[in-house]
Amino acid sequence: MRFGLLCGSSKAMLSLYQQIERVAFTEATVLLEGESGTGKELIAQSIHLSGRRSDKQFVAVNCGAIPAHLIEAALFGHEKGSFTGATRRQVGYFEYASGGTLFLDEITEMPSDMQVKLLRVLECGNFFRVGGSESVQVDVRLIAATNRSLEDAVQAGSLREDLMYRLAVFPIFVPPLRGRGNDAELLAQHFLEGLNREAATSKRFSKQALKQLRRHHWPGNVRELKNLVHRAFILSSDLLIPEMPPTSDKKIAMVADGLLDFTIGTALADAQKEIILATLHHYRGNKRLTAETLGISLKTLYNRLKTY
Ligand SMILES: Nc1ncnc2c1ncn2[C@@H]1O[C@H](COP(=O)(O)OP(=O)(O)OP(=O)(O)O)[C@@H](O)[C@H]1O
Ligand SMILES: [Mg+2]
Repeated sequence: MRFGLLCGSSKAMLSLYQQIERVAFTEATVLLEGESGTGKELIAQSIHLSGRRSDKQFVAVNCGAIPAHLIEAALFGHEKGSFTGATRRQVGYFEYASGGTLFLDEITEMPSDMQVKLLRVLECGNFFRVGGSESVQVDVRLIAATNRSLEDAVQAGSLREDLMYRLAVFPIFVPPLRGRGNDAELLAQHFLEGLNREAATSKRFSKQALKQLRRHHWPGNVRELKNLVHRAFILSSDLLIPEMPPTSDKKIAMVADGLLDFTIGTALADAQKEIILATLHHYRGNKRLTAETLGISLKTLYNRLKTY
């Protein structure tokens, strides 16, 4: 099943589509939380495209990729002469995204003093360009994302709690690929179709390949799957036989829509690890609830997580 740019029919994805539909037409700030490669940027784009700003800009900014001392000018722009080399006024991403949506990826990588400034902008709706004295008002919808658990990021001091609350008006947890039932197969076919279309070929997956796709644990999520299909597409002539990374042979549990699926013979330690991590995901990183549900102390949970 397709939902705009997104592909997937698992329960986890259907629930995600519902959340996107609900929030897209509002002006609420959305905070996406999910592992790397789960499709956070594509989801942010889908929210933008399903809302009333769809004919305006969608601007994606990776906060982790901008040096700390440049981020303020990058977001808010600068005035002519505000620093050496500033030969003319330059607008920042906020103004660039005016009327549209600004997607701030890896929000926890933003320096703390910038987080304070961002919070102020979100609260009063205006800002100053670097070196400017005239306040600038823009109408931008903000979507932020992080691949860390919010609770951990706040605890580690990389996300200010006040900003977290402001951003997380509508938090969306993006499930890892291993929690999406048979979506890996669907996505693989979807990526293969795209490659076939581009190259005017009609390559197919071998039966063995499809079986392997279903069994793999997907630590790198959709991005890993996409790259794997691409590599196999280049290497194979007619039937695709992807070289699966070594984790596919492990007898680890697969999370499928809230269910854990164990192969007989799974090592207890592996099973325990999967149960703990899956429960933690289920409760969106809430360690107190996870420990309570699993019947272990919070301290035991912390110790386990440290060894994982
Ligand atoms: N549901 C999906 N359907 C189709 N393509 C997808 C889906 N999810 C992800 N992709 C594709 O997988 C790749 C990774 O997705 P994306 O860049 O959105 O992940 P991300 O969560 O932002 O990762 P990171 O945390 O590393 O920034 C992209 O090429 C994207 O187009
Ligand atoms: Mg991203």
